[in-house]
Amino acid sequence: MMGWFKKCIWTVLDAIKANDVRKKISLNGSHHRFCWFSAVTLSDNSGRQDVILGDHVWMFGHLASQNHGKIVFGDYSKIGGESTIHAVRSVTIGDYTAIGDHVFITDNNEHSINPEDRFIMRQKDEDHPYRLWRYSDSKPVSIGRNVWIGSHSRINKGVTIGDNSIVAAGAIVTKDVPSNAIAAGNPARIVKTFIDQSPRLIPD
Ligand SMILES: CC(C)(COP(=O)(O)OP(=O)(O)OC[C@H]1O[C@@H](n2cnc3c(N)ncnc32)[C@H](O)[C@@H]1OP(=O)(O)O)[C@@H](O)C(=O)NCCC(=O)NCCS
Repeated sequence: MMGWFKKCIWTVLDAIKANDVRKKISLNGSHHRFCWFSAVTLSDNSGRQDVILGDHVWMFGHLASQNHGKIVFGDYSKIGGESTIHAVRSVTIGDYTAIGDHVFITDNNEHSINPEDRFIMRQKDEDHPYRLWRYSDSKPVSIGRNVWIGSHSRINKGVTIGDNSIVAAGAIVTKDVPSNAIAAGNPARIVKTFIDQSPRLIPD
């Protein structure tokens, strides 16, 4: 009885949050899924046209866009709970790509490299423009089709990940990953290639 009640409460909370999130993003297709922890933050002139979810996307993370940074999810892709994407330029995610829990993907450094810039920034209020991501280095991030991003990993600005590849749990990815490869460790290195030739475990 208690379990059923809890499930009902969560269903209502999820629906309330889904309603809020839907107002802040653009949706293609149908069968999108959200939960109480789904969140979208739009600032520095970003609008709902900058965050786009394809058909059948499960969005359980936090997406933040500044200065029209684009966040685009392909069809049947997914981002898990407690995962975050920050975009001031663009982060694109291919069809069928799965992003695990506690993942952080960003297309910018969020702070300037220059110490004088950071000295000035530290003295400004939280909402001062100098704290915006456009005052840091940024480069688009592109994640291919059918990629699997393991939990607690991080993908930094400028990285391209090829189709079918895997980012291992806890990896910090700072350089491109080719298709059909596994990247692991900090900084991430390629630990396996040609994974498209690994044995099938699920029957057709
Ligand atoms: C990516 C993964 C699936 C690869 O599995 P696998 O193909 O069986 O890899 P192996 O165990 O054969 O490891 C290959 C090499 O990578 C290294 N490696 C594997 N995972 C690693 C990790 N997370 N961090 C650092 N190195 C790792 C291994 O030590 C091994 O190195 P070696 O060749 O020098 O001995 C697995 O490592 C992983 O991260 N699983 C967790 C995924 C996850 O986050 N699941 C939660 C749901 S999204």
